[in-house]
Amino acid sequence: MKTNSTGHQPGQVKNSHLTNNVQAAEAVEALSTVSLRCVECAALYPGIEVGASPRYRCDCGGVLDVETKFSRPRSQSQTTPSLNEYLNFETDSDQVPPAGAKLRQIFDERASIPPIWSTSADKLLLDHSGVWRYRELILPAPEQYIVSRPEGNTTLYPVGMENCGPSRVGHRQIGIYAGLERLFLKHEGENPTGSFKDRGMTVGVTMARLLGAQAVACASTGNTSASLASYAAQAGMRGIVFLPAGNVAGGKLAQTLAYGATTIQIDGDFDAAMQLVEQVCAELDIYLLNSLNPFRVEGQKAIGFEILQQLDWQPPDWLVLPAGNLGNTSAIGKAFRQAYELSLISHIPRFASIQAEGANPFYRSFKQGFARREHVQAHTVASAIKIGNPVSYTRARRVIEESDGIVEEVTDEEILAAKRVIDCAGIGCEPASAATLAGIRKLVGRGVIKRDERVVGILTGNLLKDSITGIPQGNDGTMVEATIDAVRKVLLA
Ligand code: F0G
Repeated sequence: MKTNSTGHQPGQVKNSHLTNNVQAAEAVEALSTVSLRCVECAALYPGIEVGASPRYRCDCGGVLDVETKFSRPRSQSQTTPSLNEYLNFETDSDQVPPAGAKLRQIFDERASIPPIWSTSADKLLLDHSGVWRYRELILPAPEQYIVSRPEGNTTLYPVGMENCGPSRVGHRQIGIYAGLERLFLKHEGENPTGSFKDRGMTVGVTMARLLGAQAVACASTGNTSASLASYAAQAGMRGIVFLPAGNVAGGKLAQTLAYGATTIQIDGDFDAAMQLVEQVCAELDIYLLNSLNPFRVEGQKAIGFEILQQLDWQPPDWLVLPAGNLGNTSAIGKAFRQAYELSLISHIPRFASIQAEGANPFYRSFKQGFARREHVQAHTVASAIKIGNPVSYTRARRVIEESDGIVEEVTDEEILAAKRVIDCAGIGCEPASAATLAGIRKLVGRGVIKRDERVVGILTGNLLKDSITGIPQGNDGTMVEATIDAVRKVLLA
């Protein structure tokens, strides 16, 4: 019998969709407050369409953005409930709407509870997750479906010349290199699988469970695949990942294989793998977990909420981060926009998205006032951001425009120099993350970021992800006999 590449007989009509397996009426009910809006043409779709394949794009081809009733822009929300009504908060029309204050109180209470597992049941530590602590602003999923490690709760390191105490003299080298008095680095490499991807993945795999998916897939430069593999394993699903062969750092590949994902190396770049996985997921009814999936973006918003909470809800002047597929720029930008709309904060920080010079399509568009969407054949030592055709272009463009932000490019040499500074300070990060510091230094040097402005930079991945790029090789230390004399000779020389 002939089969085509999908394993179906030619002409066979598939009659099962993921959403025919939607786990329970309560899941559909819970997600009834969620819609998906096209970022290109503003068409609106339900969050789940039972009997249809999950939707990642609009009929016009545009990517989608999650809208919950409370976050709908005012012009479109005349008949929808406010957040106060949605959350059943009491309102007093004479006062400032209390939604922001009430949410802040809820989030702060949850953050103060010590994480203690119950011995009798697997009750989730939802409040301890740096994503689900903010669940009212993430996804209204019934608790029993949530797949969480838990994730988040990453350190916000004060590393500026002024905000770095005497016990952190090493960290202050970073502030000196950046030329900033008040600089913080948010280390997302401290997430369970070593990158910020876990924040989106906990939400993406939770959606997969709600839909009854048996298999989940992504294309990846390595971190998304490691995260997907881990969360799929936890949820008992099959993980399938598409990697650009020869362009994934060793630590990421090791994680992906160890967590048991089916790993397919593509003879092509990330952009080719991305195109392919979209096709494969549609044909084989596998749930797609790239940041094209709008629910992943919702999880990554939590980076923004957690930064704000760690800064006692005082937003910084600048938020600086590396930019590849542009999911993170979109997500953190959306978080700050929502926090502002809910009066959790008084202003939105300016964004600076930093690209590698050889993988800079977003920078090229920015330089033309976003007149044209650019594509490039990407080249950079920072393999995580070696991306030439970013999926979340339109979402991220909105963030840069709304925040009076900027897109900058840095050379591979600048990335590696910044990585050395972060590594030698004892914090460490993977190469793509160092684009943040390289970008800050460049923007301070150009006078765009002022020396006394408050800046938060994101380190996206852990040093151990890539143990080759930018790390001195062939020097394993000095070999000596195991005697005190031999050691003395080395140390007192
Ligand atoms: N930093 C690291 C360490 C990354 O892994 C990525 C993206 C980025 C920055 C860029 O973030 O795509 O949201 O603009 N890694 C993806 C992956 C592409 O497959 O792991 P973005």
